[in-house]
Amino acid sequence: MKIISSIEELRDQLRGQLRTAFVPTMGNLHEGHLSLMRLAKKHGDPIVASIFVNRLQFGPNEDFDKYPRTFAADVEKLEKEGVYVLFAPTEKDLYPEPQEFRVRPPDDLGNTLEGEFRPGFFTGVTTVVLKLFSCVQPRVAVFGKKDYQQLMIVRNMAKQFALPTEIIAAETWRADDGLALSSRNMYLSTEERAEAPALFKTLNQVADEVRAGHLDIFELEKQAMAQLRGRGWLPDYISIRKRCDLQAPAAGDLAQGEKLVVLAAAKLGGTRLIDNLEI
Ligand code: PAF
Repeated sequence: MKIISSIEELRDQLRGQLRTAFVPTMGNLHEGHLSLMRLAKKHGDPIVASIFVNRLQFGPNEDFDKYPRTFAADVEKLEKEGVYVLFAPTEKDLYPEPQEFRVRPPDDLGNTLEGEFRPGFFTGVTTVVLKLFSCVQPRVAVFGKKDYQQLMIVRNMAKQFALPTEIIAAETWRADDGLALSSRNMYLSTEERAEAPALFKTLNQVADEVRAGHLDIFELEKQAMAQLRGRGWLPDYISIRKRCDLQAPAAGDLAQGEKLVVLAAAKLGGTRLIDNLEI
């Protein structure tokens, strides 16, 4: 595997490649990321991964400085997956001058759910993703459903900018007890780790209620948040949305069998976890 940090060198290395499959990451790779690499292999060749902790998508009080950086271990894992190039730019490589041009997602999609609680987050994500796409020029790129809203925003961006990159969705990788794998799980204490699967259990309960015909969505969301609060969590949201645009469903949508997803973000101790479940 070639490890490349400069954009020019990357372009030289990938020149003429028409079927590149790309997996962008922020490193601290776990089995979930590796499943994205395996899915990428089914859709293209060569496989290019990136590791870049993108300052633009962290708020001033978020965990940019303490975000886990495990480069040597990540390299070993990517070697084993048969990744051809690891693009690992420094901040100077990717942002040699202040990144003043930004890609701002539309308000209805970018300012709801995660966007409401992490202002500027999605602008940081779409800006870096567009820049990484411009460097790698992939035919396909793989994103996990764990970051459901991110996946939808990136997909819509690719469509509206007519990017020549197809966005592929990968299923969320879970531990045996249901907890979605995330680099931030490593912040959890032993007790918190034991409690953490309650988030996915709560999503399942909400989904079961909807499937059983309980259509008072507001009430379901309220009950689920109260349940988590009772267990010591601080939920930002538990929200049932339409899969097509992540907006709240109207009564008519529900009657017409609109496809739904329930999304959640909640703090357990000092760790903020997100998860979702398609209903
Ligand atoms: O999902 C992530 O790890 C990041 O948001 C991404 C897509 C690599 C952009 O920094």
